[in-house]
Amino acid sequence: MIDMPAKFQQFVTDFTKVIDQHHGDEPTILEKGGAVLKQLIEKDDWLPERYAKPDPQYYQQYLLHADPQDRFSVVSFVWGPGQKTPVHNHTVWALIGMMRGCEVGELFEYAEDGKSMRSLGSEQLNPGDVDCVSPTIGDIHRVSNLYEDRVSISIHVYGGNIGRISRHVFVVETGERKPFVSGYSNEAELKAVR
Ligand SMILES: [Fe+2]
Repeated sequence: MIDMPAKFQQFVTDFTKVIDQHHGDEPTILEKGGAVLKQLIEKDDWLPERYAKPDPQYYQQYLLHADPQDRFSVVSFVWGPGQKTPVHNHTVWALIGMMRGCEVGELFEYAEDGKSMRSLGSEQLNPGDVDCVSPTIGDIHRVSNLYEDRVSISIHVYGGNIGRISRHVFVVETGERKPFVSGYSNEAELKAVR
């Protein structure tokens, strides 16, 4: 994307190389791509302010880069104090790199329609940590900002153009699934660039 810092542009170059070499090989992408993402998020010194802005009501998802062939996308997730996602899936692999603050991810297992979903436990992500989810290793989770008094930010990489993918949110108590497309918080800017 235009006007992004050199450090981020280098990350996109490096991640694109991983995808060029290993497209379709999920375990290798998660391993090698995870190492590339870790380099990006280890030092919180590059994210432009406009992609770090929280909203008082909703967590924000700013698209930072979309692969021209839709093989991956990079998003900054900005959590206001106490904000959390609904329980949701992705349908593609995802890497989560914690950069500022702290978040908690709770994995769930889908049982069957009408049955309550089982929690598989939660994990805390601290700055510098990289986590992953995918349909093959566990794809349903809920993510929360650990803090009630400050912003947390993580950088996510997905195996597709995540804001355009039709996926699901879940009702834990009943296992009910509802389709959703997340979109991006910077849609207006994306339209202007196109
Ligand atoms: Fe997620």
